[in-house]
Amino acid sequence: MNAATNMKSVVFETYGGPDRLSVRSLPVPNPSKGEIRVKVRATTVNRTDTATLRGHPFFARAMTGLILPKMRTLGMDFAGEVDALGDGASRFNVGDRVFGLSPDMFGAHAEFMCVPDDGAIAQIPGDIPFDQAVVAEGAWYAHGTTQLLSEGGSCLIYGASGAIGTAAVQLAKANAARVVAVVGTRHLDLAEALGADHVVNYETEDFTGIGETFDVVFDAVGKTSYFACRPLLKNDGIFAATDLGPGWSNILLGAFFGLTGTGRVRIPFPEDASGFVRRLADLMAQGRFRGVFDRTYSLDEIVEAFRYVEKGQKTGIVVVSLR
Ligand SMILES: NC(=O)c1ccc[n+]([C@@H]2O[C@H](COP(=O)([O-])OP(=O)(O)OC[C@H]3O[C@@H](n4cnc5c(N)ncnc54)[C@H](OP(=O)(O)O)[C@@H]3O)[C@@H](O)[C@H]2O)c1
Repeated sequence: MNAATNMKSVVFETYGGPDRLSVRSLPVPNPSKGEIRVKVRATTVNRTDTATLRGHPFFARAMTGLILPKMRTLGMDFAGEVDALGDGASRFNVGDRVFGLSPDMFGAHAEFMCVPDDGAIAQIPGDIPFDQAVVAEGAWYAHGTTQLLSEGGSCLIYGASGAIGTAAVQLAKANAARVVAVVGTRHLDLAEALGADHVVNYETEDFTGIGETFDVVFDAVGKTSYFACRPLLKNDGIFAATDLGPGWSNILLGAFFGLTGTGRVRIPFPEDASGFVRRLADLMAQGRFRGVFDRTYSLDEIVEAFRYVEKGQKTGIVVVSLR
């Protein structure tokens, strides 16, 4: 059988809503020196994809392109089979089942993608299906905060039901920290099953009045603030968030506390994506980390997938399956 010369790829030319996306037929890319080509079997639509499509926040365009997007195909998470090797690529063999993260160039919303051989990729542990191996994006942002925790530390995770929050609970437990998870009624059982030591229902209880203080309070879903969470922080505690906060307060306070040297408010940005994906693979192999999955869409349904994710109501990860 001849190798495919064309592939389906989801493309956008200008910033905007999901209607900017279209499924096109493009040439299958060839791996350059030091790259591998992956036949993508599953990817995700996540909040990084939806924000990048819209070009929000505006300052992020310094990385993604000021007027027009630098990359034309989104998709950070991928799982699939190694399909071709570029010159000098020796970490993987053709046919290997791999998963990973493409944090800079995206590109996973396509049937094939090329990624650096030494990038954020690892073998999928055991027989985990491709659809359940696309776990890296939320975990990566969660890792920015959970890496602040060590054994015996304590953490309150607000919004522990999204992609970042569900990962944060598991990564904090993997660091042997005490975890209190705050979720709504429909996610109480999930937070407990993920290993939280205590679960608080934000719909029926004021989580700021639980009478405990923490090393880290993590707003994993951008719905609370440093000022609301101050009673929950130890004297040297850290308020970490994934979002700008009301009135950009997390940015302004982050700059202020950065100058004072305490780092009390932070939007931690994770580093070493390659090392992190390998650690994630180890945790998955040990049964200490798993993805939490919401709906699955096909590549042709990508616009609906973006519309759903933009609602901010998903539980964990939304998968796009390319079988
Ligand atoms: N810093 C970065 O580079 C970066 C990257 C990716 C994402 N983000 C941001 O990180 C945040 C989380 O991303 P994600 O993908 O994990 O989000 P997500 O999966 O879209 O989170 C949705 C979850 O949040 C819960 N939720 C909604 N309102 C809530 C509230 N008021 N209190 C507590 N939980 C609430 C929802 O369940 P219920 O409504 O049933 O409670 C749902 O399960 C987003 O705001 C995103 O913009 C930042």
